[in-house]
Amino acid sequence: MNYRIAPSILSANFAKLGEEVDNVLKSGADIVHFDVMDNHYVPNLTIGPLVCEALRKHGVTAPIDVHLMVKPVDRIVPDFAKAGASYITFHPEASEHIDRTIALIRETGCKPGLVFNPATPLDVLEWTLDKIDMVLLMSVNPGFGGQKFIPHVLDKARQVRKMIDARKLDVSLEIDGGVGPANIREVAQAGVDTFVAGSAVFGAGRESDPNRYDSIIAALRAELAKV
Ligand code: DX5
Ligand code: ZN
Repeated sequence: MNYRIAPSILSANFAKLGEEVDNVLKSGADIVHFDVMDNHYVPNLTIGPLVCEALRKHGVTAPIDVHLMVKPVDRIVPDFAKAGASYITFHPEASEHIDRTIALIRETGCKPGLVFNPATPLDVLEWTLDKIDMVLLMSVNPGFGGQKFIPHVLDKARQVRKMIDARKLDVSLEIDGGVGPANIREVAQAGVDTFVAGSAVFGAGRESDPNRYDSIIAALRAELAKV
């Protein structure tokens, strides 16, 4: 399994965002997880396409994984594509026409994915799994970093992994919320290949140390090596 670590910049120091992203990638992270919140679909407000574009202009070349926690979805998709998004994932309950939104993301040149909240059933995957590049399982309720991992999501992960493998699809299975060195191995054993970690990564080390993320990324990888 090719495991990928996707630090969530929600927990980064926004006053130094370019530097934070450079440092975390230098320490070995694979993907930049970019949380977009609208104070409507979720009770918090974060960043939009301008910040994504700014990271690209700053020189970030790693994949940017845009997690849309917004409603409606479609209006903002082309803006993120222009801003340099790689993946665009959305919550099915936030779109009136899930198939259309997936097609729209694909048409703009990005990789579409669906995000499931802890209590959202997976039934739409029956009709969409072959059209998407990523399934993102929320292991906390969306809106805030630093929450506790909800264990029943491991059962969901096992279920999605079975569906992907049974259909022999090349779809990433990502998890988001409450992931750190203490549980990443167990999450990987449930079939997850891409791991979002916000507070666990950006809360590590001393702020003055440019290599502050080396040891946390290494600790996550060391756990993954034991799977
Ligand atoms: C929550 C966000 C997450 C969040 C994860 O709505 O989607 O990406 O930043 O943060 P941690 O890893 O701190 O739970
Ligand atoms: Zn997220």
